Amino acid sequence: MSVSVFDPRITDASAKTDVTAPAINALVETNPEIASAATKKVFITTQGCQMNVYDSDKMLDVLGDSHGMVVTQDIDEADVLLMNTCSIREKAQEKVFSELGRWRKLKEKRPDLVIGVGGCVASQEGDNIQKRAPYVDMIFGPQTLHRLPELYDQSSEQRNIAPKNRIGTIDISFPSIEKFDFLPEPKVEGYKAFVSIMEGCSKYCSFCVVPYTRGEELSRPLDDVLAEIDSLAAQGIREINLLGQNVNGYRGEKDDGSICRFAELLHYVSHIDGVERIRYTTSHPLEFTDDIIDAYAQLPELVSHLHLPVQSGSNNILAAMKRNHTIDVYINQINKLKAIRPDIYLSSDFIIGFPGETDQDFQDTLNLAKELNFDHSYSFIYSKRPGTPAAELPDNVSFTTKKERLAEFQQVIIDSTLAKTHEMVGTTTRVLVEQVADRHPDCLIGTADNTRTVMFPYDMEQIDQLLGKIVNVRVTDFVSPHMVKGELEAVLA
Ligand code: SAH
Ligand code: F3S
Repeated sequence: MSVSVFDPRITDASAKTDVTAPAINALVETNPEIASAATKKVFITTQGCQMNVYDSDKMLDVLGDSHGMVVTQDIDEADVLLMNTCSIREKAQEKVFSELGRWRKLKEKRPDLVIGVGGCVASQEGDNIQKRAPYVDMIFGPQTLHRLPELYDQSSEQRNIAPKNRIGTIDISFPSIEKFDFLPEPKVEGYKAFVSIMEGCSKYCSFCVVPYTRGEELSRPLDDVLAEIDSLAAQGIREINLLGQNVNGYRGEKDDGSICRFAELLHYVSHIDGVERIRYTTSHPLEFTDDIIDAYAQLPELVSHLHLPVQSGSNNILAAMKRNHTIDVYINQINKLKAIRPDIYLSSDFIIGFPGETDQDFQDTLNLAKELNFDHSYSFIYSKRPGTPAAELPDNVSFTTKKERLAEFQQVIIDSTLAKTHEMVGTTTRVLVEQVADRHPDCLIGTADNTRTVMFPYDMEQIDQLLGKIVNVRVTDFVSPHMVKGELEAVLA
């Protein structure tokens, strides 16, 4: 079970990813002949983390680039159905087979429909998917999504064969970091973009499948990362979100063969013309080193918001989770950061009901959340993942107790989020102005450092000087837990 007040990273299996639509549709606009009746349409669903949202973007990019395919939000008019899956918790994984059952019915009516399953469930369950859902044409992992055009061509050949004799094509290998070399130039819309700086994770927390589904940490070379950001900035992107399971484990090779660490990368990115805001998702306390903390003193582009997952407030549980740090280490890091940025907003991930979690362990977690006064947090009941060390641990806490603990914990987080939004009233906040508000055309909306949506009235003649700019807004009203309203104070950059 997973619930959060608002969780921009976790998307629902039924939600269509339209983030990528602009990229492919831009291609069609520049090549109108592509958008003919023969143009194939792709429908995609995305589960899981921001990394998957990024990967879905890239899947659509490669199919757009290689086959001129365009994205559609209407499953009934699609020629290709893609499911980008997540296996972080059991529930996400279960959704894969139930959704595939629905897609099977569509394929029975339209045998030429091509179905592809990518992401972490594909990586972990490749053969099993082939057995349980033989109507799936393409199975690919997070590291092989760039081979989607080839898989598609191979699956097309299969379509000359009687349906019952067809076999799905499968590629769930971990071909190091080659994926990035095969991705087309990023095309963007709006002012914010994600840039993947590394793949995989080598931390092997005892509960987590990521090291097994995405492989070990592998960093993209520094120049590749900077070239992608340069290209994005040239297309008007002002906010870059550096993406990885563990960005502070970044070890990117430089031109001269030396290694660039994460703090140094932040400096390089901040020097790119046009980049006004830098975020990163996600980091691990173990490598949240002083040079990264110091970057907050040196780089105004770094937002005053940090997502640093701690998972539990109990040292016993942290040890059982193999997080390799104590609560004191975490609190020290936060205190150092607060000395530099007293206005920093903090968020975290928590796992409630880890095997062996006592009442005292849970109280410690509640106390930590209260003490550090997180702005918001994502909290999940522990989900046993086959193949992970924690799956072998005795678990004597009942599911009812876990649910009660989660509800109690989430109330603390909800109250804290609400209080922080109310506290914004009367203060000035830095906002990246993004668009005219859908339901209030007299207002512009943008995002504050702390991820709140901020709405403010504007003068129509000023619109070009405001869109895509960083401005100061004086907050006057609370609108909702994640939204405030205010007055424009100054244009900053
Ligand atoms: N570094 C990544 C971690 C990816 S997993 C990040 O923070 O984005 C995202 C979160 O899912 C973890 O921080 C953890 O809180 C949660 N999670 C991972 N495995 C889990 C499991 N087996 N049960 C419940 N929650 C889990
Ligand atoms: Fe998972 Fe721990 Fe890595 S939560 S992604 S193994 S840091």
